[in-house]
Amino acid sequence: MRILCIIVANFAVLLTLNATELPQQDEKVHLGVASCAASMCHGSVIPRDGSDVLQNEYIIWSRADAHSQAFQTLLSPESAEIANKLGLENAASAGVCLDCHSDNVKTEQQGEKFQLSDGVGCESCHGGAEEYIRSHTHAAISRDENISNGLFPTDKPKARAKLCLSCHLGNKNKQATHDIMGAGHPRLAFELDTFGILQPLHYVVDEDYLKQKWSGDNYVTWVYGQLEASRATLTLLEEKLIDNSSIFPELSLFDCHSCHHNMSDLKWNENKGQGFKPGTVRLNDGNFKMLMIIAASTVDSDKLHQHLADIRKALNDKSKLKITITGILEDIDFIETSLVQQNLVQKKVSATSTLNNILQEGAKGAFSDYIAAEQVVMAIDLLFEFIDEKATFAADISLLFDIVADDEKFDDALFSKQLKKINDRWVKQ
Ligand code: HEC
Ligand code: HEC
Ligand code: HEC
Ligand code: HEC
Repeated sequence: MRILCIIVANFAVLLTLNATELPQQDEKVHLGVASCAASMCHGSVIPRDGSDVLQNEYIIWSRADAHSQAFQTLLSPESAEIANKLGLENAASAGVCLDCHSDNVKTEQQGEKFQLSDGVGCESCHGGAEEYIRSHTHAAISRDENISNGLFPTDKPKARAKLCLSCHLGNKNKQATHDIMGAGHPRLAFELDTFGILQPLHYVVDEDYLKQKWSGDNYVTWVYGQLEASRATLTLLEEKLIDNSSIFPELSLFDCHSCHHNMSDLKWNENKGQGFKPGTVRLNDGNFKMLMIIAASTVDSDKLHQHLADIRKALNDKSKLKITITGILEDIDFIETSLVQQNLVQKKVSATSTLNNILQEGAKGAFSDYIAAEQVVMAIDLLFEFIDEKATFAADISLLFDIVADDEKFDDALFSKQLKKINDRWVKQ
C-alpha cells in the first residue's frame, strides 16, 4: 500500500512537472528549425489555403521575427564588448548568453539538423519535436495528445507567460543579471499582450483555431502576464535575496532608476518613497503595482496591499521576507482563481474598473517611477482596446508612448499630467 502511494505520488509529481516544463528543460530531442521549414510543412512562401495552419510560419519567423536574429546578435560588436567586459571568451559560445539567445538544450538533445545558430527557433517555444513531429500533422490525433508528446501549450496564457518571461525577465535557471547589464546589455522590459502583438504573428485565430485552442483576449493575456511576472520576480527575490550571502544582493531586482540618475536631479517624492525616507533603494516593482490594480478590481485587495507594503519593509529581514513572499504568492493564486471564473461580461466590467483605477491613481502621481509608467502605458493601451474605446483615445495613448519612449528622458510630472487629462475625458464620457 505504502509503495503504491509512493508510486502514485511520484507519478503525480511527474505529471505536474511535465505540464509546466519549459521547452529548454523538456528532455526531448530538438530537431532544429530545418526540420520544420520544408515548403510542404511550415516553409511555404505564401499562406496555404485549405490548411489548418498558415504553413508560412518559417518565412515569417526568418524574415520578420527578431527571434531568428537572436544568435546573430551574439556575433555583433555590442555582444563582443559585453563578453569582453565580463571576461567571457566569446558571447556566441557562452552558455549564459545562449540560454536566452538560442535554443540552448543539452548536446545529447540536439538532433542532426539542430544548430545553435538558428537562434530562438521554433522548438525554443513549441518544445522539442522528437515525438510530436509525426503526430502533430494527423488530424485524428488530438492536441492534448500532441502536448503529451512534447508540444508546448503556447496557446494557454499562463504557459505562454512563463515561456516568454523565462527569457524576457528571467527565472531560476537564467537571468540578465546586473553584471550583464553593467557590461552593456539593454534593460529588459516586457508585457505579454503587447509583446505578443509585436512579435509578428505567424498564426490566425480562425474557426479551426478556436475549436482546438484557447484564444486569448487582451485582458486575460495581460492579467496572466502580470501574475506570472510577479511570481517570477518573487522567486528571484527569494533565491537572490534570501539564499544569498554576498554583501550586495542582485541589483537587477531593484529599480534601475532609483540608483542611476544625476545627484542634482532630486527625484524623491511621497509616491516614490513607498513609505520610506529619501535614499532608499526601491524594488523593481512595476509588475507588483499592476498586480495591486488588478486585485483592486477583482478581489479584496487589502491583504495584498499589506503584503506588498511588508515586502518593501522586509528587505533586510530574511525570515520576514520569506513569510511575505509566501503571502503574496497566495494572493496571486486567489486572483487567478477568481479570474478563471469570470465570463466575458464580467471581464469587461473588471477591465473597465481596472482602467478606472489606473487612470485615477495615475492622475494622482502613483506611477511616477519609470518602470511602473512603462507598464501603465501598455496596460492602458490594451484595456481601452479590450473595452472597444481605443479609437476615441488613440491620440492621447500615442502621446503616452512618446513620454515613456526613452527612460533617461522620462518626465514623471508630464506623465501624471497626461494621465489626468485622459482620466478627465474618460470620466466625462
Ligand atoms: C529562448 C528565449 C526567448 C523566449 C522563450 C522568448 N523570447 Fe522574445 N526575444 C528573445 C531575445 C534574445 C530577443 C532579442 C533578439 C535580438 O534582437 O537579438 C527577443 C526579442 C523579442 C521581441 C522583439 C523586441 C524588440 O525590442 O524588438 C519580441 C516582441 C519578443 N521577443 C516577444 C516574445 C514573446 C511574445 C515570447 C513568448 C511567446 C517570447 N518573446 C519568447 C528571447 C526569447
Ligand atoms: C535572461 C535572458 C537573457 C540573457 C541571459 C542574455 N540576454 Fe541578451 N537579450 C535578451 C532579450 C530578451 C533581449 C531583447 C530585449 C528587448 O528588445 O526587449 C536581449 C537583447 C540583447 C542585445 C541587444 C540586441 C538588439 O537587437 O539591440 C544584445 C547585444 C544582447 N542581448 C547580448 C547578450 C549577451 C552578449 C549575453 C550574454 C552575456 C546576453 N545577451 C544574455 C535576453 C537575454
Ligand atoms: C517566441 C516564441 C515562438 C517561436 C520562436 C515560434 N513560435 Fe509558433 N507560435 C508561438 C505562439 C505564442 C503561437 C500562438 C499560440 C498557439 O497557437 O499555440 C504560435 C503558433 C504557431 C502555430 C499554430 C498556428 C495555428 O493556426 O494553429 C504554428 C503552426 C507555429 N506556431 C509554428 C511555428 C514554427 C514552424 C516556428 C519556427 C519557424 C515557430 N512557430 C516559432 C510562439 C512561437
Ligand atoms: C542599488 C543600486 C543600483 C541599482 C538598483 C542598479 N544599479 Fe546599475 N550600477 C550600480 C553601481 C554601483 C554601478 C557601478 C557604477 C560604476 O562603475 O561607476 C552600476 C553600473 C551599471 C552600469 C554600467 C555603467 C558604467 O558606467 O559602465 C549599467 C549599464 C547599469 N548599472 C545598469 C543598470 C540597470 C539596467 C539596472 C536595473 C535593472 C541597474 N543598473 C540597477 C548600482 C545600481
